[in-house]
Amino acid sequence: MSARRPLIAGNWKMHKTIAETRTLLAELCELAMPNGVDVMVAPPFTALAAARDRLRDCGIGLGAQTMSEHEHGPYTGDISPVMLRELSVRWVILGHSERRAYFNETDDGVARKVRAALAHGMTPIVAVGETADEHQRGETIAKVTFQARAAFAGLTEEEVRKCVVAYEPIWAIGTGLVDEPASANGVIGEIRGAVEGLEYARVLYGGSMKGDNATALMAEPNIDGGLIGGASLSVQSFMEIVAAAALRAAAPR
Ligand code: 13P
Repeated sequence: MSARRPLIAGNWKMHKTIAETRTLLAELCELAMPNGVDVMVAPPFTALAAARDRLRDCGIGLGAQTMSEHEHGPYTGDISPVMLRELSVRWVILGHSERRAYFNETDDGVARKVRAALAHGMTPIVAVGETADEHQRGETIAKVTFQARAAFAGLTEEEVRKCVVAYEPIWAIGTGLVDEPASANGVIGEIRGAVEGLEYARVLYGGSMKGDNATALMAEPNIDGGLIGGASLSVQSFMEIVAAAALRAAAPR
């Protein structure tokens, strides 16, 4: 039986002004979050302070979408773990495929950020995933296990257990093409097997997760929740997924 608590993480990407953040979170915080499920949102940096204020006593955690590996220094435009901790940020998404593709994030860089997050008491959510071409060529397992091994290289099993992984097939992100639950379950099983400690860590699925596919995905034994993009931007679609996670929490394996 698994003791892994479901986690639903909303990655807002570059959406929501401060005013929009306040509105969405005010609506979300009026709803009771189900027992047994962790829920968190990662707004843009500019809205973190407003989100922190709005989320007090609301049962939803606060995350960031990326961060610097450095505490301070000449890194124009970057945001450090110290600055995030000051804003009560508890979670940080690292190595998202959009960061890797558009901001040249490397496996080594992601690994350094994972260490920095842990050193500052934050939980890294490390994103891994294959492109459509890699998927076609049958390279999915090789790609994601390589990324996972690289991200957690040199960490103790104890440290790895504290982390979260998100398997996000790149071809499924924002496309409406969701992976088959059994297929995602199999890939995540390989990810867990690739790094000591990941068996105990939470691994999420991400990529067009919505209310109508979340239950089937989270019914799979290896899938502990979701990293949600588009569907995290409205209360109704996000809460449908949270409700699906509550079902999973109520039926532990
Ligand atoms: P979508 O849910 O919009 O496909 O995005 C997934 C994602 O990239 C979350 O990090």
